[in-house]
Amino acid sequence: VLGGCLSVVVLGASGDLAKKKTFPAIFNLYKQGFLPDELHIFGYARSKLSNEELHEKLRGYLKTDRTDPSKGPEDAIKQFFNKVTYIQGAYDEDEGYVKLNEEVSRHEHERSDDGTPTRRLFYLALPPTVYPVASKRIQKHCMNQRGWTRVIVEKPFGKDLESSDELSSELGALFTEDQLYRIDHYLGKELVQNLLVMRFANRFFVPIWNRDNIASVQIVFKEDFGTEGRGGYFDQYGIIRDIIQNHLVQVLCLVAMEKPVSLDPEHIRDEKVKVLQCIQPIKDEDVVIGQYEGYKDDPTVPKDSFTPTFASVVLRINNERWDGVPFIMKAGKALDSRKAEIRVQFKDAPGDIFKCKKQGRNEFVMRLQPKEAMYMKLTVKEPGLDMKTTQSELDMSYHQRYQDIVIPEAYERLLLDTIRGDQQHFVRRDELRVAWEIFTPLLHRIDAGKLKVMSYKEGSRGPDEADDLNARVGYQRTAGYIWKPPTLQ
Ligand code: BG6
Repeated sequence: VLGGCLSVVVLGASGDLAKKKTFPAIFNLYKQGFLPDELHIFGYARSKLSNEELHEKLRGYLKTDRTDPSKGPEDAIKQFFNKVTYIQGAYDEDEGYVKLNEEVSRHEHERSDDGTPTRRLFYLALPPTVYPVASKRIQKHCMNQRGWTRVIVEKPFGKDLESSDELSSELGALFTEDQLYRIDHYLGKELVQNLLVMRFANRFFVPIWNRDNIASVQIVFKEDFGTEGRGGYFDQYGIIRDIIQNHLVQVLCLVAMEKPVSLDPEHIRDEKVKVLQCIQPIKDEDVVIGQYEGYKDDPTVPKDSFTPTFASVVLRINNERWDGVPFIMKAGKALDSRKAEIRVQFKDAPGDIFKCKKQGRNEFVMRLQPKEAMYMKLTVKEPGLDMKTTQSELDMSYHQRYQDIVIPEAYERLLLDTIRGDQQHFVRRDELRVAWEIFTPLLHRIDAGKLKVMSYKEGSRGPDEADDLNARVGYQRTAGYIWKPPTLQ
């Protein structure tokens, strides 16, 4: 438990992100005792709301399943709401921020009037257009005079290299890099955090994690629902900006980077930047984009939109470890299932005496969600009298292996990291810049209508062309084998 006084300010308090992710994450940390007693939370937004009205908006999103069973579930929520104050204000006028600062200061003095350091955390759950105006006013009116101020910002960080650079300079003029926490919630997922351990703490993997043994790597994100009321936002960005340029690229960094000098956040982020710098310009023939039929039925989407809701992009890393290994980044909405995984496919074992090559290749799969798991798909002898081979797996499913452990939500973990001052799982400015450098030329070609957008059916695997692309770059699908998550005994 952290001691001292902490104020958390959520700007955009009545918005979707705040309701669904930010407040539930703060609540979970609070009820597990990770936040100090001297805690106050401020919701700031434009709407005219009372404290109670804000609480009502949030209530349905706060889960009490992990509370101390000796307390009634409602107790935790009630106690939490006692700490949540709503403040109404415009994002682009000084007045609201002056009021906010008064409230925060008043609370800080009430809580610790002995002059001990205080902490202020601002969470910008805001539309990107108001980042600069809001940040300017936080800097002008709300900085902590008695301790640290940290600011969490959410993507989108611009729409391309130029707009992102502009935003970075605006924010960079207001806050130092160690005050800024650029959140990418994929970095808070349990299996993404396990990547470093898996790769660098296991002798199994160390010698084979390279172009001599690995044929391809896929990083896949699938959702089985469409844009669902977020069409207005989504249509301006598309799937590459929404998922690939940030979430999947962050995962790629951890899969492909060299071993950092230490676990120091700067050492880790140095390696991430280096591997990103090795990525080659993307060629059109390495890209398939698609849009699901029915996307334009969403009233918030323009009728002539050609924004991709699906994309498969092959990235090529030009370095000693990965030269020649395709990294297939695939993401789509309204597909046949919801899952995110990393699939590393190995080359064939040389000198095949079993004539089993056609059955399937070794694969190491990390299932990020749902049902976190890691499994190795491999060839074994089919049990019985014949010398026949079959595909099977070595499996580590989290819900079976760690039955009593609740895996923390990504946002929960990242918020705690911010309070602790650990930037390891946050995106550094130069890292963001290289990620934009990689995708901007392609995005501009797509925006200019230069790439054909394939149509695909809702609930399908996406456009067939994406499977063709996979095959072309050498990925071999295993026929007739499906991994089944183990059931609990
Ligand atoms: C967000 C995207 O960043 O991530 C959404 O904007 C997407 O479009 C979401 O649905 C997926 O997050 P998760 O954690 O559910 O995989």
